[in-house]
Amino acid sequence: MINILFAAGEARWEEYKHVLPKALKAAGLTADLSRDHAPQDTDYIVYAPNPALKDFTPFTKTKAVLSLWAGVETIVSNTTLTQPLTRMVDGGLTEGMVEWVVGHTLRHHLGMDAHIVNPKQAWTPKAPPLARNRTVGVLGLGELGASCASALAALNFNVVGWSRSARDIPNVMCQSGSEGLEATLAVAEILILLLPLTTATENLLNEQRLAQLPKGAVIINPGRGQLIDDDALLDALNEDHVAHATLDVFRMEPLPWDHAFWKHPKVTVTPHIASETRADTASEAVAENIRRAETGAPLLNLVDRSAGY
Ligand SMILES: NC(=O)c1ccc[n+]([C@@H]2O[C@H](COP(=O)([O-])OP(=O)(O)OC[C@H]3O[C@@H](n4cnc5c(N)ncnc54)[C@H](OP(=O)(O)O)[C@@H]3O)[C@@H](O)[C@H]2O)c1
Repeated sequence: MINILFAAGEARWEEYKHVLPKALKAAGLTADLSRDHAPQDTDYIVYAPNPALKDFTPFTKTKAVLSLWAGVETIVSNTTLTQPLTRMVDGGLTEGMVEWVVGHTLRHHLGMDAHIVNPKQAWTPKAPPLARNRTVGVLGLGELGASCASALAALNFNVVGWSRSARDIPNVMCQSGSEGLEATLAVAEILILLLPLTTATENLLNEQRLAQLPKGAVIINPGRGQLIDDDALLDALNEDHVAHATLDVFRMEPLPWDHAFWKHPKVTVTPHIASETRADTASEAVAENIRRAETGAPLLNLVDRSAGY
């Protein structure tokens, strides 16, 4: 019997208590999923940050901690967590992110705001350019960024992407390194941020880098709020250098009610809904990783502690 401790909070338990046991069974595992296993009896921990479990020291026989979150910035620095840590890669999460990113990109590309609620009675026809004449930059070409870049390329956008290591994605001009970042920013009329939050990516989009974007660029951030210097972004919007920012993630969530983003006419705030882990597909991912660990196969989506993601 494999003992799996579910340590991801009450609301998640309601979502997972039936689907995860089914996925474990389908993976051929005989497992006891519970919220009450004693630390010394726990083989695996299914985890999302929560106040009840912050100290992993007593889990001496635990073989892995499986995060239900894709972003692990709040866990990766926990020095008591010495067990192998995996992050969530879930087909449903990726699909949702692709739909959200493509939708918001098309909004700006097509200039939908000019007509969608008939803001003024005016007949001033201005056809949007074709996607083939629009360049979209994607910062971060991991599970989510690469899928979004491919979906945008399939719609004929010119897609330039940037990552830490060199990547090769069909129909996407892939860049890496600091020169690659400059080259990406210089051409990105619409810039999508899908980087993890690490010490290397915090405040990446600062005043200097915002200035490298073409005038009138649009920023779409479903990555993490801390990737952008908020004040520098507000300045760039107020100076008309950046035309609009669609932001799904923030330094503080919920976004404080007095934050300038709420009322800014060039900012769209969405409440961290770009995509979420789906219990059914995520359960399959968790079960597959436990199956792999039990059969001696390498774990999928292991977090690289030194890189921070
Ligand atoms: N808003 C939402 O609803 C939502 C939902 C899920 C996730 N997210 C966010 O999306 C992020 C990305 O998720 P993912 O699954 O795509 O992560 P991932 O697979 O780990 O990909 C991360 C990408 O960022 C690149 N990268 C990391 N550090 C870098 C650096 N210093 N310079 C340049 N590139 C760097 C990586 O480069 P390499 O390819 O070289 O490794 C990789 O291409 C998550 O960390 C989370 O913050 C948001």
